[in-house]
Amino acid sequence: MRKRTWQRLDDLDLAGKRVLVRVDFNVPIHDGHVTDSTRIKRSLPTIKTILNQGGLPILISHLGRPRSRSDRNCSLAAIVPYLETIAQVPVAFCPETVGPTAEAASRGSPSGTILLLENLRFDPREMQNDDSFAASLARLGDVYCNDAFSASHRAHASITAIATRLPGCVGRLMEVELNALESALSTPERPVIAVIGGAKISTKLQLIDNLLDQTDILVVGGAMANSFHMARGFPTGRSLTEPELLSTAREILAKAAQIPCQLVLPSDSIIAADMEAGTESREADLSDCPDDMMILDIGNKTVGQIARLIKQSRTLVWNGPLGAFEIPPFDAGTRSLALLAAQLTRAGQLRTYAGGGDTVAALNHCGAATDFTYVSTAGGAFLEWMEGQQLPGIVALGKHTPRADGALSASGRLRVNGQKVP
Ligand code: 3PG
Repeated sequence: MRKRTWQRLDDLDLAGKRVLVRVDFNVPIHDGHVTDSTRIKRSLPTIKTILNQGGLPILISHLGRPRSRSDRNCSLAAIVPYLETIAQVPVAFCPETVGPTAEAASRGSPSGTILLLENLRFDPREMQNDDSFAASLARLGDVYCNDAFSASHRAHASITAIATRLPGCVGRLMEVELNALESALSTPERPVIAVIGGAKISTKLQLIDNLLDQTDILVVGGAMANSFHMARGFPTGRSLTEPELLSTAREILAKAAQIPCQLVLPSDSIIAADMEAGTESREADLSDCPDDMMILDIGNKTVGQIARLIKQSRTLVWNGPLGAFEIPPFDAGTRSLALLAAQLTRAGQLRTYAGGGDTVAALNHCGAATDFTYVSTAGGAFLEWMEGQQLPGIVALGKHTPRADGALSASGRLRVNGQKVP
């Protein structure tokens, strides 16, 4: 189990304090409207805790990957109406992220309100993990709270460099994410089955390797499985493959043959001439994929086999769709297994954990997400955690030592592991 050394929001006395909260409001926005406000909603417990304790939540976040501050599509101003509706308190927006205007806003905002600062990435020093930028951010708060698990795989100034500059803690969402992911992989009920899919093995090599070591059954589907078919000598027609990774795929197969984890690859598929909605498609054995056809989903035999394995398991970890789920009918395999997992979760027979942008979209698409035990807000960070990597933002919180001259410790109210800091 990964060791925890960080403080929680409740370990700090926040009354009258400016709490600089790193949230992840990197949400999809089209024509100025937020199209998925999940991440905003999931930040609410932290914001409310700070407000209820009499602190001022000062929210900092990135949005997109802007080239310069003139990229107005990346302004966090678009978030304000959503945040106000969800939080039911006034939200002031500061068009600067650091500097005199932001500092004045951080000191002048009345209690009972929220202050949202402009996109951190409008300043290039954020992604450079620049210490002077972190110092400027630190002037805006008395306490730092990291509630952005989904951005904690980035070694950026608001995630890592800042963590040693202010007394710090983890937010509610961060805690929930870490607890869920620990239950999924570090202390799960066994047997554990992992289902992974998606387009490319190359992006998930480390994930496969770690899951082979951590789980009892590893199912690989999606276009990733095509390269394994190829490595085993089966035809793949016009399917998406990575021929340059054939020897890697063979190495994975060889490793799997020598360890207890059962590696499950599709034993049949759905093939079609084009990846278009409503295209004529048919079931095919692995030996049957003509040169002008492509594999677009797992077949019924495979669905049945995975369903049996899921029913024998107590924990399921899911990352990546098993077919071209955006295009019916190639969503059928993912849909039927996601609904089965949801039903077993409802019945209390299975604990189900999922993460990754495509995965969450696929689970939402088939109406299974709400029944899952936990659906992470994270994409890349979820993947890196599942790969067994240390996330820079989590490491930074562990290293954090509140300074004796910090604003909170000067008040004598900061507590670390239940002890007052002198
Ligand atoms: C995400 O959406 O995965 C996080 O917000 C990180 O965004 P990034 O990939 O642009 O760093």
